[in-house]
Amino acid sequence: MKTRHVRSLLVIVAALALGLPGATLTDAQSKGTIKIATQTPLSGGQASIGESIKLGVQLAIEQKKAALEKMGFKVELVPYDDQAKPDVGVANAKNIVADKSIFLVIGHFNSGVAIPSSEVYKDVQLTMISPANTNPVVTDRNLLSVNRVCGRDDVQGEVGARFAKDTLKAKSAYVVHDKTTYGQGVAEFFRDSSKKLGIEILGFEGTEEKSNFDPIVTPIKAKNPDVVYYGGIYDTGAPFYKQVREKGVKSTFLGPDGMDASDLVKIAGKTAVGMYYTTAAGPVALYPKAKDFSKSYKEKFKKDPEPYAAEAYDATSIGLKAIEAAIKDAGGKLPSREAISVNVRKTKYEGITGHIEFDGKGDRKKAGYFIMRVVSDDPAKWGDNKLIKQLQIDPPALKK
Ligand code: ALA
Repeated sequence: MKTRHVRSLLVIVAALALGLPGATLTDAQSKGTIKIATQTPLSGGQASIGESIKLGVQLAIEQKKAALEKMGFKVELVPYDDQAKPDVGVANAKNIVADKSIFLVIGHFNSGVAIPSSEVYKDVQLTMISPANTNPVVTDRNLLSVNRVCGRDDVQGEVGARFAKDTLKAKSAYVVHDKTTYGQGVAEFFRDSSKKLGIEILGFEGTEEKSNFDPIVTPIKAKNPDVVYYGGIYDTGAPFYKQVREKGVKSTFLGPDGMDASDLVKIAGKTAVGMYYTTAAGPVALYPKAKDFSKSYKEKFKKDPEPYAAEAYDATSIGLKAIEAAIKDAGGKLPSREAISVNVRKTKYEGITGHIEFDGKGDRKKAGYFIMRVVSDDPAKWGDNKLIKQLQIDPPALKK
């Protein structure tokens, strides 16, 4: 080797030993590459959240990969676009499991995509840590490879119903959903809890309509419910609420975490101001460490993080810790995917969204649930939405 090469190699080795930023491994020095995949919608009407989840993962990798690099591994992000469609998510999942250097998946945004995709990851025990999937089935399949750092819709639906009853003093509600696993699921949980609390359900309807809600609005107007609830995502929820209000319906609007996105007001404008939503994404303003995350995110990506980006950051941080532990267990070599799944499940972590540990089926213990009120039609002010109530609730035990 020429002296010049020896010298530059020494500089790199010294920089790595010191954990200096900018130190990178060359292929020759590396013991292998550890790829972390994201699967979220990066195109279509839900891309703003999907992109933000991906950027949360990217930031965590950049800030925290040094430990794995010191152990001799390169760390890379490989983003996949699931388009919020189950068949696309599953096709991507097949490519992901075929790439043996992918050791972790952070995703998805939609439960209806996460559930079938994680059936593919499960076959090779590839860990998925979900930042945002709230449908109970995600974890109720009791899979070692599936975890989430957010709460669940059986709890979220009840939190929404209790709020409607106790705070809004609602006597009646009309519930519409988008017929997806998530949207229909959370709408049913809200409906069932509302009924138990004595709220009369004046209508319960599923629709795949995305833009013209006229036929749905007519009966809502006729029934004049105290609360209108939409189970779905903001890209269809926003035009729905907008058209309901524009047709002269005076009801209070309430929705689930699918409404938690600045695009809601970008689309619905003033008609969304004053509406309420429950969410499982911790508002970053609540957590001191999440404020630092927000600042770094904004500096780097020139925009505010959307809801669930902080959860994506935490999910990635836990994954990186678990990979590190699995490498140690394997005597410094690349571990198996299963060993990482085992380590993720037992990781206890102080994240930017609080303490994270999982129960036996992969649910976050003491997950956060938040009731929020939209304060402005300016999308840049989404982070200023008013916190009405914050709850920490343990996940229900697995039903035998
Ligand atoms: N929490 C929503 C879902 O699981 C976004 O689909």
